[in-house]
Amino acid sequence: MTATTRITTPFTAESTAAEVVAGVDLTGRRAIVTGAASGIGIETARTLAGAGADVTLAVRDLAAGERTVGDIVATTGNKQIRVARLDLADRASVAEFTAAWDGPLHILVNNAGIMASPEMRTPEGWEMQFATNHLGHFALTTGLHRALAAAGGARVVAVSSSAHLRSPVVFEDIHFREREYEPWSAYGQSKTANVLMAVEATRLWADDGITANALMPGGIRTNLQRYVTAEDLERLRAQSGAAGVSWKTPEQGAATSVLLAASPLLEGVGGRYFEDCNEAEPNQPGTRRGVAPWALDPEAATLLWQVSTEALAS
Ligand SMILES: NC(=O)c1ccc[n+]([C@@H]2O[C@H](COP(=O)([O-])OP(=O)(O)OC[C@H]3O[C@@H](n4cnc5c(N)ncnc54)[C@H](OP(=O)(O)O)[C@@H]3O)[C@@H](O)[C@H]2O)c1
Repeated sequence: MTATTRITTPFTAESTAAEVVAGVDLTGRRAIVTGAASGIGIETARTLAGAGADVTLAVRDLAAGERTVGDIVATTGNKQIRVARLDLADRASVAEFTAAWDGPLHILVNNAGIMASPEMRTPEGWEMQFATNHLGHFALTTGLHRALAAAGGARVVAVSSSAHLRSPVVFEDIHFREREYEPWSAYGQSKTANVLMAVEATRLWADDGITANALMPGGIRTNLQRYVTAEDLERLRAQSGAAGVSWKTPEQGAATSVLLAASPLLEGVGGRYFEDCNEAEPNQPGTRRGVAPWALDPEAATLLWQVSTEALAS
């Protein structure tokens, strides 16, 4: 397969997570899903559990996490499901999580996120969407590098969004210190960062057998839209693809994540961006589909890795 061969699968926007891993046996594989007590994270975790994986739900709300464990055990019969506390906006919490992890990690689904929040900052002064969606997952993934390498063929899945089309990573002012804060630009920037991290992790960690890919899950009604008005939501849905495209169910929304996490069709594939269970085409300006050139730019990916490493070391 050459670098330019686009990866396609028999699956579509309508496929469910269960359909994309039908017949796949994940027994003996260990997986982490962040933000797994809400939205598409629940269905991602449920599907991996249903295929036999040992799944850790990494969540900031432990009570919600415990409820989700009960739900997943009841619906799949898999008892190897547990919850662990993880607040991606809190460096100490991420460090505690990674320090407590023991043994190999086969699948890491970086799913948690916030969208279009009002201006908020971490104690470090970092813009909250970048801190949560990117820096927290960067700290988590690099903190788990040894465990991923130990798995032999581990997969990292970055849940990005078509919103990455709204903004590259603006290295000159990532944290909106000079420019006026704009919630959607901040979200878009963080979602571009998710793709760039997959690109660089795949390059850096090739010798460890680790691959990382990014995806747009589709439009799914979840708690993610908590900061968004109903009018904004309808406008976004209308922009999200071809005429007639409607909201996906959570089971459909989890399909591309699960495909990247567990399908044999993705064996050895890394550094790419998918939507509707297939690798995306380059974005055509004026449309809300496809992947932006800035999200797959290897130089930006290397720079982001450096900037993120420095931020976390400070
Ligand atoms: N839904 C869509 O239409 C859509 C479209 C494109 C991309 N996405 C992406 O899909 C992913 C999942 O979204 P969703 O729709 O399932 O949203 P959701 O229902 O709001 O789930 C997001 C999860 O992230 C968790 N989270 C937020 N901040 C966190 C933090 N600081 N530390 C740990 N966990 C944190 C939330 O925890 P709490 O429950 O405690 O808040 C929640 O469990 C996100 O990355 C999102 O950007 C979704």
